Amino acid sequence: MSTPQTGDIDVRRVATCLGAEIGGVDLSRPLSDRVVAQITDALHRHRVIFFRDQHLDHASHVALGRRFGELTYAHPHDEAPPAGYPEIFTVDPNWNRERYGDDYLTANRRRQYTYLTGWHTDITPAVNPPAASILRAHVVPAEGGDTMWTSLVAAYEGLSTPMRAFVDTLRAEHRYGGRDWPAGNGEYARRINDNPLIAVHPVIRVHPYTGERGLFVNPGFTSHIVDLSPRESRAVLDVLFDELTRPEYTVRLRWEPGTVAFWDNRTTAHLAPRDLNRIEGGRTLYRVTLVGERPVGPDGRPSDLVAGEPYGSERTVVLSG
Ligand code: SIN
Repeated sequence: MSTPQTGDIDVRRVATCLGAEIGGVDLSRPLSDRVVAQITDALHRHRVIFFRDQHLDHASHVALGRRFGELTYAHPHDEAPPAGYPEIFTVDPNWNRERYGDDYLTANRRRQYTYLTGWHTDITPAVNPPAASILRAHVVPAEGGDTMWTSLVAAYEGLSTPMRAFVDTLRAEHRYGGRDWPAGNGEYARRINDNPLIAVHPVIRVHPYTGERGLFVNPGFTSHIVDLSPRESRAVLDVLFDELTRPEYTVRLRWEPGTVAFWDNRTTAHLAPRDLNRIEGGRTLYRVTLVGERPVGPDGRPSDLVAGEPYGSERTVVLSG
């Protein structure tokens, strides 16, 4: 085994509200505690950090992730992670089409906000959404396929003072399919309907390490605000979704083979590419996620589990016959 790296990392901010490029580190080698602390600090400060020209395979990707915490099972709805690597989630539209058929793509494209077409924070239907995600590019198209992230702290701070006081008191339900599930009778829809994963989170989440407040709703998974009428909930969520997707809070990543993005899933949402149906040459990325804690709101109250299991290292979804 090679010796751990001990030098200082280089951090270069790339957008005003979030995002930094990190240099001076080879993620395929063991990291010293000092470098892990520097990367963790950069992650909390910049919310999403990018590393270029890395040479990770599944084993070194998993080893890297474990330096920052316990890893989850690949994805609640993934039944076929790469052999020997139950922590690795494959992000590839062709992979999903092969497993679930064309209904997966058509059902998702009909809706504005999904993994394939919209803003989301990873796995917020779980009572303990992942703390962070590490995504590495394997195959990337020559054109298109960019990913964007937004700062949920900037979005909270962008609200007016009375609006912040109001949303500080709210809680919202998160479920697969967000506002418009169930959709269709295909295998993917059945799997999700047979394994409901639902949680109620505070609308404003207090970061466990920095104490910052961030807007913890997302168009992909938040179905409604509890205790409001359906009309009130829709109106409030529309305002919050508009706020968190404002371009000035975002950063956009142009992937290259070997690019790694590491984001704090507590204070960001991200937009998977909107141009997947136009790109040529394939797009395959691999992701690991770190086990997270139950979010806590400004009043100190944690999230409630409504259906399903906390999201940890075990696979919990069962397939119907
Ligand atoms: C993800 O949600 O982790 C995937 C993002 C992407 O495909 O760019």
